[in-house]
Amino acid sequence: MEVVYVELGARRYPVYVGAGCLREIGTRLVETGCGARMAVVTNSTVAELYLTPMLASLRAAGLEPTPVRIPDGEEHKNLAWLSHVYDGLVAAGIERGGAVVALGGGVVGDLAAFAAATYLRGIPCVQVPTTLLAQVDSSIGGKTGINHIAGKNLIGAFVQPRFVLADVDTLSTLPPREFTAGLAEVIKYGVILDPGLFTLLEDRLADVQRLDRDMLTCVVRACCAIKASVVAEDETEGGLRAILNFGHTVAHALESLTGYTRYLHGEAVAIGMVAAARVSRRLGLCSESDVQRIRALLERSGLPTEIPAELRGDPLARAMRTDKKTRDGAIKFVCLEAIGKTRFERLTCEDIVEHL
Ligand SMILES: NC(=O)c1ccc[n+]([C@@H]2O[C@H](COP(=O)([O-])OP(=O)(O)OC[C@H]3O[C@@H](n4cnc5c(N)ncnc54)[C@H](O)[C@@H]3O)[C@@H](O)[C@H]2O)c1
Ligand SMILES: [Zn+2]
Repeated sequence: MEVVYVELGARRYPVYVGAGCLREIGTRLVETGCGARMAVVTNSTVAELYLTPMLASLRAAGLEPTPVRIPDGEEHKNLAWLSHVYDGLVAAGIERGGAVVALGGGVVGDLAAFAAATYLRGIPCVQVPTTLLAQVDSSIGGKTGINHIAGKNLIGAFVQPRFVLADVDTLSTLPPREFTAGLAEVIKYGVILDPGLFTLLEDRLADVQRLDRDMLTCVVRACCAIKASVVAEDETEGGLRAILNFGHTVAHALESLTGYTRYLHGEAVAIGMVAAARVSRRLGLCSESDVQRIRALLERSGLPTEIPAELRGDPLARAMRTDKKTRDGAIKFVCLEAIGKTRFERLTCEDIVEHL
């Protein structure tokens, strides 16, 4: 098993990555010194697959877990189901010394961690991510929260977990489309900060796609290390952390234009990354061959790379203008200088659309 640390002084925490490490969750929790009583928040799909081994490991370590289930789906990351989780914590008799274990993808992770951050003014949370996106992105960094009808992730808090335990074996049951979407975020880390990871993916994509355990452990660990270092430098997105938004300006616009139904997030990010690379190329910041390498790797991964014709131009510009990160019509756009190197440029939505 591999370990990387998120270096945040007194709130420093480990991210464990390995194949089969789910069975160690009990031991790891005992090491943190949390009390015996805890809630395992999960959804119906993940419960079916991984709740039994999770509970067995916790009980074997002398802990007293109570499962709290929510239905599967982003539409349940809301106030009503948050309230249901609070009810579960109260019913389970979770007290100050207790903890919340989030078992699932980013939806469960965000909602369970926000419940932990606010229940009894905050109890410890542990993340056990089971999607590729959650393992390399959402479980690390302390962004917690729920959606509001007025917007995604509108309510939330920055509260870091006690530790993250990512068992890459859980990825074997993930629907292939979800796995591929997660790969977009993996590729993003290579593009923004790690040319070695990018080359590794180019060379060993087939091993990643056939879920080779050692390759997955290596790749997930590399991504976690990058996310950990960015978060350690800029915990609350005052500056550097925005680098993680590479490809996301166009991605968020596409997701919102298509009502969050046509694309999985990672698919929209894949299109957005090629768009960001193209804009950078037109601004003379990066080479055409870098744009083509990014596009080629995404395509080989099975991800879309082109903005559909009907969404180009005005619709896209309009959707970008209403993004909460747009200020006075200008966006802090993450541009590419080379694979592994980016810089921020203030661009208007019209500039971006014109360069696509
Ligand atoms: N906190 C952050 O920093 C951060 C970052 C990025 C995204 N997010 C949030 O993450 C959420 C998306 O997360 P996601 O992509 O993991 O989606 P998700 O949690 O909806 O999981 C995707 C699907 O896979 C299923 N699933 C999960 N693990 C499985 C497994 N091992 N085997 C089979 N099926 C499994 C889920 O039940 C679901 O149907 C969004 O709400 C987004 O806002 C948060
Ligand atoms: Zn993303």
